[in-house]
Amino acid sequence: MAAPATVAVPKPKHARPKVADQKMLINGKWVESVSGKHFETLNPADGSVICRVAEGDKADIDLAVKAARAALETGPWGRMNASGRGRLLNKLADAMEARKDELAALETLDNGKPIADALAADVPLSIACYRYYAGWADKYFGQTLPIDGPYFAYTRHEPVGVVGQIIPWNFPLLMQAWKWGPALACGNTIVLKPAEQTPLSALRVAQLAQEVGFPDGVINVVPGFGPTAGAALSGHMDVDKIAFTGETGTGRIVMTAAAQSNLKRVSLELGGKSPNIVFADADLDAAVEGAYFGLFFNQGQCCCAGSRLFVQESVYDEFVAKVAAKAKGRKVGDPFDPANEQGPQVSQEQMDRVLGYVAAGQQDGARMVVGGGRVGDSGYFVQPTVFADVRDEMKIAQEEIFGPVMSILKFKDADEVLARGNKSVYGLAAAVWTRDVKKALKLAHGLRAGTVWVNCYDVFDAGAPFGGFKMSGLGRELGQYALQLYTEVKTVTMAT
Ligand code: NAI
Ligand code: MG
Repeated sequence: MAAPATVAVPKPKHARPKVADQKMLINGKWVESVSGKHFETLNPADGSVICRVAEGDKADIDLAVKAARAALETGPWGRMNASGRGRLLNKLADAMEARKDELAALETLDNGKPIADALAADVPLSIACYRYYAGWADKYFGQTLPIDGPYFAYTRHEPVGVVGQIIPWNFPLLMQAWKWGPALACGNTIVLKPAEQTPLSALRVAQLAQEVGFPDGVINVVPGFGPTAGAALSGHMDVDKIAFTGETGTGRIVMTAAAQSNLKRVSLELGGKSPNIVFADADLDAAVEGAYFGLFFNQGQCCCAGSRLFVQESVYDEFVAKVAAKAKGRKVGDPFDPANEQGPQVSQEQMDRVLGYVAAGQQDGARMVVGGGRVGDSGYFVQPTVFADVRDEMKIAQEEIFGPVMSILKFKDADEVLARGNKSVYGLAAAVWTRDVKKALKLAHGLRAGTVWVNCYDVFDAGAPFGGFKMSGLGRELGQYALQLYTEVKTVTMAT
């Protein structure tokens, strides 16, 4: 009998792309900034410079807004059939699909996320989002209104106009898709400011959009920093709407700028401290898996991370042991190695911030079960860290950590955990794990959060709206609801 052959499985090769210095896209042209300034975008896996990027500021935002205004009012975009916009969005999705390895590699290089995640989540979810909104382009329409009198009255769904969009660095491709899909489906024109840490995939997708035929000026991308380019966009007098994703404090600045300029429409997707609640009657292994994924996914850099993990007392010790063992075994390292599950944090600043929270957890007396340190001394890697015996008043139970740091709290019963779950300024997401349908519904309806997952976590689909209660935001992205963010409703009344 032949011995079973040992097959050496070759590691799939994912090449680190070489990236040239980048310009910005204004009115269909790739241009340098007015100031001539650049900034460097870094590879978080080793801190090296990937390339230089044109640095936009007020003057560049002004030019981009002018181009977007002209494209809206006098260009071919405004005359295009709604179905034509849908076709262009589908073509963009096709172009991305044809380059999915390249886009994933670019995202991994600039953000540090594992290539396996970029390929399995970021890229396909982004493509699906464009396709979803391609379908909506000619299917979101007004009503005829049976008003009193000799009148014919109807509503029209018109684009809001020139929209400014400011996105973060944790899911660059996906946040761009969440913003561009509905905005373009509804006929708006766009000035996008990507995050300064991760401008590359946005610029590449903009190039693809240009190649598939979006008219000049419909899409403009101005890389730059928040207090300069971002502030110029949110305070601009000729921008009709601003959409922002990022920190709650920045959201407040953006909303203030909108209020103090032209009262532009505002939508915000901000921070969270989402309760993930595990009852003793849950499928415990599934709950461990879900809690682990719901916190550590994307290096913990998720607005909806299940970062207040409540576990019922009778299964608490068993749960902590199981989830800690998983965290201990998590493979951290080179994000281009497909075997690695965790890459670096996006920047030195974020790594330092996360390690600061680890120190705060220790200081406040939480029990560190695993992790707690940096990995290596090159790149911004942080050990998967688990704190048990966390109490509600501790800093790590109240503030958004945005890193691979799990905080586990103990609870007794449903009423207690519902009240504690809601004791937060945030209200982005929540989850509950139980086999009891009544309990599941009580929590799902009682928790003040924009999304509640039951016996699952981080399930996203372009068709399911996402956004925050309370200080987690304003408005809903994704699904049909996102179309409202990008539409003005006009009533037309005609005497008959
Ligand atoms: P941030 O909110 O400062 O950055 C997000 C975007 O806003 C970037 O494009 C940035 O350039 C822009 N921005 C910054 N200041 C601005 C201003 N004054 N006006 C207009 N735009 C501005 O987030 P940051 O500093 O990168 O990360 C800090 C913390 O924020 C993280 O540790 C995390 O807790 C949270 N965060 C939450 C995100 C989410 O998805 N909810 C995403 C990114 C960060
Ligand atoms: Mg900031």
